Amino acid sequence: MAFSLHPPDARLLEGRRALVTGGSSGIGAGTCYELAAHGAAVAVNYVGSDEAARQICADIEAAGGTAVPIEMDVADEAAVQGGFAAAVDALGGLDLLLNNAGVEKAYALVDMPLDTWRMVLDVNLTGAFLCSREAARIMTKAPGTPRAILMMSSVHEVIPWENFSHYCASKGGMKLFAQTIAKELAPQGIRVASIAPGAIATPINADVLADPEASKRVVAEVPYGRWGQVADIAQAVAWLASTQADYVVGSTLFVDGGMALYPGFS
Ligand code: NAI
Repeated sequence: MAFSLHPPDARLLEGRRALVTGGSSGIGAGTCYELAAHGAAVAVNYVGSDEAARQICADIEAAGGTAVPIEMDVADEAAVQGGFAAAVDALGGLDLLLNNAGVEKAYALVDMPLDTWRMVLDVNLTGAFLCSREAARIMTKAPGTPRAILMMSSVHEVIPWENFSHYCASKGGMKLFAQTIAKELAPQGIRVASIAPGAIATPINADVLADPEASKRVVAEVPYGRWGQVADIAQAVAWLASTQADYVVGSTLFVDGGMALYPGFS
């Protein structure tokens, strides 16, 4: 794709070294591009096929940026340790983590297979724990530099969602996990904060987007009246990662067109 870095005086992340989990599609991919446009070197994490991650890295490198694909299942402790070591090796350090990898699959409680419950909790919550732990171990060794661990949470860290009890449990858990480690790490100069997207047009919502009626029902829940785009989230992440957000610790930034304002109760 046509990609270019932002002009030097508009870059918020020059010299930073970032790892984005689930970086090869949707919000993760868009955020990899945006962080790179702001001058960050980016480790693009993927699972499975490496094709998309390699393309993102090639686009960034062709524009004069730095990016490296990193294969890693965030729910696998050994893979996470290996993935972070490879990222640090390639980028010369790490001062920004975005825990973005996430999965969902609708099931009513009475039909929810244990395997699916575990899979969603493993990726969305345990994955964030394993990656945050690894990042913190690395970042605490570099005092005095800007460092941040960010969570890609969801409006469903506060809004209950029928048939997604596993997803809501994972994002609700992520909220208090983030706030707790924010308290632990803030004294060491490492900021932890979350982004809560609303309804964003990405592959995770492919089924709804393909059904005009279902898509309309989603938009009806958004006071601002439109689906969110990947750029809406990626730009918020870049700001939250930057020193412009230096005093933002433990908060969740909702980027949702007002979805969390509970329009259904009006
Ligand atoms: P997506 O399906 O494009 O992205 C999810 C990414 O996670 C994929 O790249 C996938 O390969 C990766 N992933 C899955 N399992 C993994 C594992 N074990 N290890 C490493 N990576 C793994 O969907 P989208 O929308 O870009 O989702 C990104 C994040 O944003 C997720 O955490 C999701 O919960 C969150 N989110 C998305 C919203 C939306 O409306 N699209 C709304 C609120 C939150």
